[in-house]
Amino acid sequence: MRISVIGCGYLGAVHAACMAELGHDVVGVDVDESKVAELAAGRAPFFEPGLPEVLARGVASGRLRFTTDMAETAGARVHFVAVGTPQTAGSHAADLRYVDAAVGGLLPHLSDGDLVVGKSTVPVGTAARLGDLVRASSGADLAWNPEFLREGFAVADTLSPDRFVYGVPGGEGGERATALLDEVYAGPLAAGMPRLVTDYATAELVKVSANAFLATKISFINAMAEIAEATGADVTQLADAIGHDARIGRRFLNAGLGFGGGCLPKDIRAFQARADELGLESLAFLADVDAVNMRRRRYVVDLALEMLGEVVGAKVAVLGLAFKPDSDDVRDSPALDVARALQEAGAHVVAYDPEANATAALVAPGLEYVDSVDEAIQGAALALVLTEWRQFRGLDPEAVGRSMAHRRVIDARTVLDLALWRDHGFEARGLGRP
Ligand code: UDX
Repeated sequence: MRISVIGCGYLGAVHAACMAELGHDVVGVDVDESKVAELAAGRAPFFEPGLPEVLARGVASGRLRFTTDMAETAGARVHFVAVGTPQTAGSHAADLRYVDAAVGGLLPHLSDGDLVVGKSTVPVGTAARLGDLVRASSGADLAWNPEFLREGFAVADTLSPDRFVYGVPGGEGGERATALLDEVYAGPLAAGMPRLVTDYATAELVKVSANAFLATKISFINAMAEIAEATGADVTQLADAIGHDARIGRRFLNAGLGFGGGCLPKDIRAFQARADELGLESLAFLADVDAVNMRRRRYVVDLALEMLGEVVGAKVAVLGLAFKPDSDDVRDSPALDVARALQEAGAHVVAYDPEANATAALVAPGLEYVDSVDEAIQGAALALVLTEWRQFRGLDPEAVGRSMAHRRVIDARTVLDLALWRDHGFEARGLGRP
């Protein structure tokens, strides 16, 4: 099938490449010329495991191309809208200008029987409004098919998601939309992926409520970490114990520096803002979820200041800048926030991330970036592990201790065996752990 994908960021680039991988003929459209040039050459403009391979295969096969020209969407049967919905400056609501521009830009190129498919995360009510617009201006229809991909697993999550959700209009339009989407996803559906067909509002809410639930789960365990810190309990053992209850489950119960990234923080705020607009108090608890999450960043900064004593001029090694491992994304990264706060407090922050140094340097040029753990810890008065990259798990406390000026470490992501580090003379502190 001929498919267009509007927006080639984290979501759109992966989606376009994966649609070509499924055998479709795909054109990706983005306004950013340099990004389009990279993608057209079969190169990923950001770090995402597995993406370079599917991109290169798609481009080499001739099934995948990229352009800045919206007119090239003409002739495609299904048009995915995968642009960003950032937080509006000065408010918590989602900024829909890119979604509106993408759909508006598509209108002149749509033909009778085409299907526009929203993938962006939007406030409930958006699909109904855009569906009316699309139907009134063309013979096309609109569906909402939210994306649940996790960075670091984006390719696998796109090709074999936990479920497909199709938000479709009522009547024949809905049947046509469902049939087209079934054709697009024929491969994964044949492999048994579940698919749920809903109305627009439900599909929009599935996405934001999934993210709100995940954020709540993380903040729940971080609230338990605060209690553990006050009482001498161990939040990791607590998570293991409650996680054995299948109704609770162990996943997303890792206490630490909390959630960041391009989705969870902004999505829970936008969801709350939408509930406020609807005059509902239902999501007031998300303010606490947000507050617990942000408190963890402050806690780590305060802990670092306490351990350092004298902060001004102290060399501090920051290990990890990305908001999570296997990503170079530093959007709303808790790690980068902590690094910046320590720098502002007067420390000399030397940072190392296996993939995110370059993206971090764009937004925080004042930090010093180095290419290895060894360089970061050399002569440091304190080391902080702020992102749970696999390579940090295997750090040798004796070797690290010999390089540092003082044997002090904060493990904000529960990757180190604190008892072992203490055996090597470290003052070693974790979060929610004695
Ligand atoms: C999230 C959702 O998981 C995905 O379904 C949605 O489509 C987009 O948003 P992503 O932003 O890639 O995906 O990251 P995710 O893996 O959910 O992690 C979010 C943040 O939570 C990271 O900063 C991570 O370090 C943190 N986290 C995660 C924890 O602090 N503890 C955990 O137990 C799990």
